[in-house]
Amino acid sequence: MTSPGLPDPTAPDAECIVVRGSGPLAGTVVVPGAKNSVLKLMATTILCDGPFELSNVPDIADVSIMGDLLAAIGVEMSRPAPGELTLVNTGVITPVAPYELVERIRASINVLGPLLTRCGEVRLSMPGGDDFGARPIDMHVAGLEAMGAEFKFSHGYLEARADRLHGAEITFDFPSVGATENLMTAAVLADGVTTIDNAAREPEITDLCDFLVAMGARIDGIGTSTLTIRGVDQRDLSPVSHRTVPDRIQAATYLAACSVAGGSLDVVGARADHMTMLLERFGDMGLQIDENDDGIHVEAGGRPRSIDVATLPYPGIATDYKPLIITMLSVADGVGIVTENLYPGRFRYVEELQRLGADVRTSGHHAVIRGVPRLSGAPVRAHDIRAGAAMVVAGLAAEGETRISGIHHIDRGYDDLVGRLSSVGAVIERC
Ligand code: UD1
Repeated sequence: MTSPGLPDPTAPDAECIVVRGSGPLAGTVVVPGAKNSVLKLMATTILCDGPFELSNVPDIADVSIMGDLLAAIGVEMSRPAPGELTLVNTGVITPVAPYELVERIRASINVLGPLLTRCGEVRLSMPGGDDFGARPIDMHVAGLEAMGAEFKFSHGYLEARADRLHGAEITFDFPSVGATENLMTAAVLADGVTTIDNAAREPEITDLCDFLVAMGARIDGIGTSTLTIRGVDQRDLSPVSHRTVPDRIQAATYLAACSVAGGSLDVVGARADHMTMLLERFGDMGLQIDENDDGIHVEAGGRPRSIDVATLPYPGIATDYKPLIITMLSVADGVGIVTENLYPGRFRYVEELQRLGADVRTSGHHAVIRGVPRLSGAPVRAHDIRAGAAMVVAGLAAEGETRISGIHHIDRGYDDLVGRLSSVGAVIERC
């Protein structure tokens, strides 16, 4: 069964993307705001009443789904103009996140901290999202328990209570993005000081910190792995206008497209300082990358060179880049090894790449990729957002036609990928 509002990928008339071997690419693509930031900013509007304004918002399905979830909670979303959102917190908050909405989007877990700290209770269906293995929330729960919450799990729902959360010293075993965000937002209205050690440092976390500080939160150590949050009173918070940080994963997608198709692109809006390690590795693969005032300029000529890569928490190479990197290595000169350190199950799209003629073998959390000069177009399926984008990039490097189904995954995270690639010379269409 398909979730309401999403197309059924098995239906005979389901939409797909058709891409043909293309290149060289030339021109400019503008990178919108980051999915992994805007969804968290949206959830954080639960903390205080009034109208918030967000700009640089990507036009993606997950924003609509988060909007539906917030409407059920008591925050009304509207889109006054392309790329802009208004979120009005009505002040009448229902601390319940129902199954039908939560199962569609991983970031729904981000309502947990704000609801609990604001309402003293929350009832949340266990979150869904991308299909790449177990995505536990034990660190979110343990952290909130240390702050005084009591949890109960029954019938697929998680219920938490705390009259008022209190500050705590929390040290993570692993710098989880979601757990850092949930504990940080909860700590904003807690009684006393919370420190989070080994906190995640992704640019999207910094964006959330900046948003919270503008609202009146007191946070030290922004951008570092130790965050100190001094609880404030709810009356000290006020709604704000905020510009979402650019999407580094979408930016990387256009760089990867240029790498396999050749040519040169201006990726406007991309923040090179948020992609330092990735850009170094792309340089090792033969891309000529220059940062300028508008974003990133990239030039590619000839086959990429193979490299070895391991995914790590920021500032390391993000797991979300990995399907793109494996696709680039599929047509690179030489042999590359990619090691996944975050989500061991996140190799499902490799079978699809193999259908296109890629020579990839996986063992545990490693993939060995022997580059071939050219892939060969075939029908393939997008299994999650990033894997779907990788199929599109692979199609650019394949002779003939690649037909990608399951593209509702791509729509969850990419703002007009087809239009943007077509505008720089890729032979691609939705059908
Ligand atoms: C977020 C991003 C996702 C990205 C990931 C890692 C969103 C909606 N998703 O996911 O695109 O791939 O960061 O950069 O923003 N873990 C636990 N227990 C927990 C929490 C996490 O064991 O309580 C483990 C996870 O299984 C995983 C690792 O920690 O192995 C990273 O998880 P986390 O950083 O929390 O990622 P998400 O916030 O789920």
